[in-house]
Amino acid sequence: MAASPLRRLTLAHLPTPLWHHPALDDQVGTEVWVKRDDMTGGAEAGNKIRKLEFLLACATEEQATVVLTCGAAQSNHARATVLLAAGLGLRSVLFLRTADPLAPPQWVGNLLLDRLVAAEIRFVTPEQYGQRDRIMAEAAAELRRAGERPYLIPEGGSNGRGALGYVEAMREVRSQLDSGLAGGPRPFDAVVHACGSGGTAAGCVLGAARYGVAPTVWSIAVCESRSVFETVIGRIVSEAAPLLEGDPHLSDLRVVDDYRGPAYGVASDAQRDFIATVARRSGLILDPVYSGKALYGLAELASKPRRVLFLHTGGLPGLLAQAETFAP
Ligand SMILES: Cc1ncc(COP(=O)(O)O)c(C=O)c1O
Repeated sequence: MAASPLRRLTLAHLPTPLWHHPALDDQVGTEVWVKRDDMTGGAEAGNKIRKLEFLLACATEEQATVVLTCGAAQSNHARATVLLAAGLGLRSVLFLRTADPLAPPQWVGNLLLDRLVAAEIRFVTPEQYGQRDRIMAEAAAELRRAGERPYLIPEGGSNGRGALGYVEAMREVRSQLDSGLAGGPRPFDAVVHACGSGGTAAGCVLGAARYGVAPTVWSIAVCESRSVFETVIGRIVSEAAPLLEGDPHLSDLRVVDDYRGPAYGVASDAQRDFIATVARRSGLILDPVYSGKALYGLAELASKPRRVLFLHTGGLPGLLAQAETFAP
């Protein structure tokens, strides 16, 4: 059965606040309005719920019994998926990347939550992870033979349907601006956010132009290079655009890959200091994998947009899993 493109479940607590703190403006060196998508929910909070409202709608419409997805061992996307799936009565299977599956990582942060809802976790090596789409398709075929109805969600929930979540987020911001939040209807100069699998960027590129939120989207890469992300985001935009009514309008996309730090999931000393200073001065908690690197990147840019909508995309369990790296 083909699912209707815009079918959506109500899973997130919306609208999320638009938050401003003068100390943050000082620290970042420009006017920053934070879209608090770290507050889209409880333990399942973060940017992924917005995508999952569309993806899990499709899963339930197809009467799925089990959801399959993938990510890093501390994947926020995997955690949001399994928590929401459990609430919908769906079983879930995760393919999580780790250096050595025979010595699995500690059950902390996101992994602890995955385990609490009894998600089935299959650890894979980085090499196997490179073949994740094939591995998940084979696992789905196996589950089908066992009488299950599997639904596959790609890394980060990042496909055309998932990206609709951020088209809708931009509509939400437009109505907040129209109702006088952030000083009135004037658009921002840019949307800035952390980019990990490209779906948030694609949704923002389509939605920020459509709803007059900002002419430019700055996607601060946390893993891949600029050229990889430009290709990935372009592909997701072209999948999402036909699901929308009318001609697509696109904001300019600027992918910045200078602030990835030492490795995916590893922040530099300067990035950790930045996160700690933001917390101390403004009470805003960023994570060292995504939002902390993205806001640090904005603060470091030599030529910054003047009035910014910064998407706080969540990631708190990832911070808690790195407690020892923030020891005094
Ligand atoms: C907390 C957080 N922020 C940002 C992102 C990046 O979003 P996207 O995967 O849509 O690029 C992710 C996931 O990758 C995330 O978990």
